[in-house]
Amino acid sequence: MTDKLPNMKPYEEEVKEFSWDLSKEELNYKDGDTINIGEYCTDRICKLGKADKTALIWEGHSAEVKRYTFDDMRVLTNTIAKFLQDLKINAGDRVCLFMDKVPELYFGVLGILKMGGIAQPLFSAFGGESLLTRLDDAQTSAIFTQKKHVAKVRKILNDLPSLKHIIIVDDDGSKPLREREIAFNMEKAEKVENFDVYPSKAETPSILHYTSGTTGKPKGAQHVHYSLISQYITTKYVLDLKDDDIYWCTADPGWVTGTSYGIIGPWANGVTQCVSDSGFTAENWYKFIEKHKITVWYSAPTAIRALMKDGTETVKKHDLSSLRHLCSVGEPLNAEAVIWSEEAFGLPFHDTYWQTETGSMVINNYPGMKIKPGSMGKPFPGMTATIVDLKTYEPLDKQGTVGMIALKPGWPAMMRTYWNNKKAYDSKFVNGWYLSGDRSSIDEDGYYWFVGRDDDVINTAGHLVGPFEIESALLEHNAIAESAVVGKPDPVNMEVVKAFIALNPGYEPSKMLELEIMNFVRKKLSALAMPQEIEFVDSLPKTRSGKIMRRVLRAKEWGEEIGDISTLENDL
Ligand code: PRX
Repeated sequence: MTDKLPNMKPYEEEVKEFSWDLSKEELNYKDGDTINIGEYCTDRICKLGKADKTALIWEGHSAEVKRYTFDDMRVLTNTIAKFLQDLKINAGDRVCLFMDKVPELYFGVLGILKMGGIAQPLFSAFGGESLLTRLDDAQTSAIFTQKKHVAKVRKILNDLPSLKHIIIVDDDGSKPLREREIAFNMEKAEKVENFDVYPSKAETPSILHYTSGTTGKPKGAQHVHYSLISQYITTKYVLDLKDDDIYWCTADPGWVTGTSYGIIGPWANGVTQCVSDSGFTAENWYKFIEKHKITVWYSAPTAIRALMKDGTETVKKHDLSSLRHLCSVGEPLNAEAVIWSEEAFGLPFHDTYWQTETGSMVINNYPGMKIKPGSMGKPFPGMTATIVDLKTYEPLDKQGTVGMIALKPGWPAMMRTYWNNKKAYDSKFVNGWYLSGDRSSIDEDGYYWFVGRDDDVINTAGHLVGPFEIESALLEHNAIAESAVVGKPDPVNMEVVKAFIALNPGYEPSKMLELEIMNFVRKKLSALAMPQEIEFVDSLPKTRSGKIMRRVLRAKEWGEEIGDISTLENDL
């Protein structure tokens, strides 16, 4: 029976008493010890007497189900780690995972960590160019992938001399392998019962997650094994996971939620989790919850809004009474969605706010704390947050004023650098604060209310896409002279990509050309980055120094004040 009391004490009490040492004590970790996330999530849980407990319940497209115990996971992650060592992959080498949500992806991350490698998960829907930019930047040594995605890797191989191995996890031998390819079947490989786990220390690099910014190429936020201290305790307190829970995180490990709270946090807590590799429909999701008796569910506002659109009739067709705690992340969770979920499931979604860079949850609604629908909640105990002035970056003390969310550095899961880009990393810190780039206000009770991003990055369905990356891809199309990409409002996805395009001489706007351009971006980057709307223009608004003012175009889409445009070169 699940204990009715939340794991976390009442918020104010916890804030007074909390120390990260508490997490270290529970993990039996002392400063200076070795700490390997792969080992903590598998071997350690087995040693705690849970070897036969189910770690993963996985369901594929055709509802086939696979189950793995913590001991299965321990052995399979050993097997992967040994396989990589035999390939002469060294500690510190980057190993990419480019796969759908198959068990190999989950165990692959832990296997890489166990042998000291740096796991670089990339979303399997990425196109060749998105993949190339990230593999080239990280100088990745090996990539795990599936037959269905290998063609994208083959196309960019010539540009990736450092990529030595392409490991295909579902090769059936029906076609000959090509240059640098090797088949590896996790289930059929000789099992490795004992493996000497790499003796990583707190600051040993663990995971590299690429995230998009406004300018330049995507940046690799580099995390370390010590992140476990944050991820373990936030999972326990915010997701409120308990020993008998069946947990479902809907995020893909290609994004940070899918690793921090879809791999590390829950398994370090020894909790059973479910993964669904089939597509989204309300019916599918409710069936999944009903079938596996999911108790704790971590999802995203876009999905919740899509469920809302589907209505409560579908909800009523299913027995969802196993659910006891719901959380959300990735985008603003509108008040209506919280209220609707109370109606539909008898439980509110608890909003959580954090970033790839923070590695773990930052501002959250806690079990037992009063939810103000539409608010992100309050800072995690042990973290110091504030809002700072948007120009001076000095803390603001006036309630209700909009400023930028800033955090005092030092929590365990914070990124340690951007890969090969210390300059960009350093620029995130001003006056002793880590600047999030998000605008918010704080009310009289200390609740944070999200206002928007302070840059041009587009958040579509909870995924960040960088306008610069899309504009660069667009410029490679023969017809395009220049372009500007902004987010436009969307009722379900919050924002979708809109491109303003000026054509080269000799090209005329047409529906055909529009579709061709959309497809061009989809193939190169991903469906997320594909413009949902294209507006052909004669020219784009620019500053006198020639910089395209996305801000002006964005404000028009959102019906907002344009602000100071005194430096604009051309008329709007
Ligand atoms: O703008 C904020 C938004 O998503 C950004 C972080 O995106 P990413 O690094 O991909 O990580 C997403 C999952 C942790 C933030 O800078 N964001 C995230 N959570 C929320 C949010 N915006 C509003 N409310 C949230 N709860």
